[in-house]
Amino acid sequence: MFERLKAAMSHMAGDLKSPAKDVLNRMRGDPATPSEYAKAGQKVAPDVTRLLEEDHRLVMGWFDAYRFETDPGYKEAWAVRICTALIAHMQAEEEILYPAAKKALADKGMVDEAEREHDEARELIDRIVEAGAASSEEEDLILSLSAAIQAHVAEEESEFFPKVRACDLDLYDLGARLAARRTEILQELTATGPLPARTLH
Ligand SMILES: [Fe+2]
Ligand SMILES: [Fe+2]
Repeated sequence: MFERLKAAMSHMAGDLKSPAKDVLNRMRGDPATPSEYAKAGQKVAPDVTRLLEEDHRLVMGWFDAYRFETDPGYKEAWAVRICTALIAHMQAEEEILYPAAKKALADKGMVDEAEREHDEARELIDRIVEAGAASSEEEDLILSLSAAIQAHVAEEESEFFPKVRACDLDLYDLGARLAARRTEILQELTATGPLPARTLH
């Protein structure tokens, strides 16, 4: 049974394109993300686009966790986590990746559009900060943020990142700088509290 499954998977792998191939690789035990390489003990430079895609997967999972959580305290913790991670992710993209991409890409409008979408997400985050913790207003706003981020992520991953990978940028240097900057921003945010008007239960 196991042999048959393995044979079917290797046959399928020949026809699949990413990300389906990444999923299959993961199932076969091959590392598919920078963290998984690190866990497997392999030194890898973080390609900036793969690093950001990993962030995207994480935050989309946290939106699901928020949605299904029923305890108000945990719900609030997910809201804080989502907003904090998004603020750091967007700011690091804007400081490190977007300016480099703007110089390298012929289509500068793509970066302008991404920045506009970040501003819309930040407006929603501001309104989440104002909303009552674990209130129905917060729930509606988090759902709107989830939909906005999902659309933004789809554009980044299907249109923007492939163009970035195709031009002459050092993706590994950008990845290392972006990871360091994102950590700095997260440290600043968590030192002061990302959502100062709110307290955790
Ligand atoms: Fe992103
Ligand atoms: Fe973005």
